[in-house]
Amino acid sequence: MEIHIVDSAETGGIVVADLFEEVLRGAGEQGAVLGLATGSSPLPAYAELIRRHREEGLSFASARAFLLDEYVGLPDEHEQSYHRFIRENFIDHIDLPESAVQSPRGTAEDPVAEARAYDERIREAGGVDLQILGIGSNGHIAFNEPGSSLGSRTRVVGLTRSTIADNSRYFDSPEEVPQRALSQGLGTILEARRIVLTATGENKAAAVAQLVEGGISARWPATVLQMHQDVTVVVDEAAASGLELSEDYRHARTLRIIERGNAR
Ligand code: F6R
Repeated sequence: MEIHIVDSAETGGIVVADLFEEVLRGAGEQGAVLGLATGSSPLPAYAELIRRHREEGLSFASARAFLLDEYVGLPDEHEQSYHRFIRENFIDHIDLPESAVQSPRGTAEDPVAEARAYDERIREAGGVDLQILGIGSNGHIAFNEPGSSLGSRTRVVGLTRSTIADNSRYFDSPEEVPQRALSQGLGTILEARRIVLTATGENKAAAVAQLVEGGISARWPATVLQMHQDVTVVVDEAAASGLELSEDYRHARTLRIIERGNAR
């Protein structure tokens, strides 16, 4: 894992946007396949990518995108659907065609079949080149709550009380938060070629400490990322405050910058 401890969410957004730009520019004619997350964590990165599109001509025209998850029962147009969130906060402001963006269909008649078909659609697209992730305060990624199988595939999941409480800020009351979601599984996420996870704030500190330094366990689902060979973790000081070895990560980052400079 590469750990970047940054001084602000905005700086974190720039680090994440750099990875997206590298993948977009490095993709062949078939275009990059982007794995997108919703929630507040990726917003600074999306804002920076929108800026680069507008001011520097960064193009997403040949890319495709897959969302991590969607609430069961919410149509794409619902105010709180993740499909709508990603359109309003990212897609509507860049040149990625809306038809190139897929999410698990929350209103599918048979959500179990939809989950299976979603994994198949990702596979048919050639797999995800870069997946962006946030992390829940309980260590979830996508909607893989504690206890999720580390090899899980896209499926229908029940949300825990803590996630419903975390997400209720977006709804008028906790009772309105859907209780189930369609979520990419941990095994599905691990198939992305590169992964970047971003987190800010002290309420993420325990989960980030487990993600980076804990033992791999279904108690903290994000720890499965330790098994992936290309994960970058971008965290602010508060989210990094539970890390025992933060000075080592800062030092390793300085060394990498020097090495890259030498290689140029
Ligand atoms: C969103 C998602 C969730 C969030 C996580 C953190 O698509 O799958 O796992 O990434 O709940 O949410 P924020 O970023 O709002 O703190």
